[in-house]
Amino acid sequence: MNQEEFKKLEEASALDNVPSEAIYRFPLELVHGIPLMKPIINRWQEVEQFQARPDDLLIATYPKAGTTWMQEIVDLILQDGDLEKAMRAPSHIRFPFMEFVTPTLPSGVEVLTKMPSPRLIKTHLPYQLVPTSFWNQNCKVIYVARNAKDNAVSFYWFDKMNKAQPDPGTWESYVEAFLQGKVGWGSWFDHVIGWWEAKDKHRILYMLYEDIKEDPKREILKVMRFLGKELSEEVLEKVVHHTSFQAMKENPMTNYSTVPSFMFDRATSMFMRKGEVGDWVNHFTDSQSKAYDKVYNEKMRGTGLKFRSLI
Ligand code: A3P
Repeated sequence: MNQEEFKKLEEASALDNVPSEAIYRFPLELVHGIPLMKPIINRWQEVEQFQARPDDLLIATYPKAGTTWMQEIVDLILQDGDLEKAMRAPSHIRFPFMEFVTPTLPSGVEVLTKMPSPRLIKTHLPYQLVPTSFWNQNCKVIYVARNAKDNAVSFYWFDKMNKAQPDPGTWESYVEAFLQGKVGWGSWFDHVIGWWEAKDKHRILYMLYEDIKEDPKREILKVMRFLGKELSEEVLEKVVHHTSFQAMKENPMTNYSTVPSFMFDRATSMFMRKGEVGDWVNHFTDSQSKAYDKVYNEKMRGTGLKFRSLI
């Protein structure tokens, strides 16, 4: 496939072109015990058989942990801080979403299979469901994790506004479902721990949303080194600037404003919603917070993994 043909496929796969009748709240079904949207399950074999290439870079996250933020950091580092180059296409085109399937658009796997190298790839899969070819090819992976409470709030608002996600119901019922892992991509706890335990077996850089928020420059430097790039102080400052919440909120290539409103209902919530650490205090009751802390303490014991839900 030549560049021009690929460009056409890319455009055809863009959420920007999804017909309204293809979008409805897809129900969740289980694959290997993990709840995923039905269209993904229908074509699961393609994901399992996906062929990674050695120079693929995978950005892996639990949904709403800061995927788009890390994508922009990575792309700007690779483009030497050149915003115009990073603005060549929306995030979801630059980083095809590997397991994503809608009934009418080419799937993530279809696009990636035809995409020229080096490929930038997004996934929300838990570690154990990532196609084994990534490990056989010794690919680099950047994982971003975010504290459970803010992650849950962000996912709740996203599920409300994204008309392809299951209806989150009330906040009270959602908090419970999230705690039990009965949401898309499964348990937050199992996800962050699974990737944490995998990080020393493969080339995985494990990043925390709260750390990036606290000191973006320090954390961007970590990503830069992991990617094997050298950037001048001036370029580094540009990356910090262009990846701030405000800059990304205003950037049509990162704020998902190109996705039609019948899919992302922006009257309900914006994709770039608040971008804060600690917004959970505005949602969780005291007893909901205590219930989370109890599960958190049980699950994290002995793992060495620590989150901050306030900074
Ligand atoms: P909120 O809903 O809390 O605002 P993902 O990209 O994984 O879907 O994650 C989306 C979350 O990351 C949203 O959180 C969004 O606002 C936040 N986010 C995106 N870009 C950000 C940035 N530059 N700085 C801080 N948070 C950012």
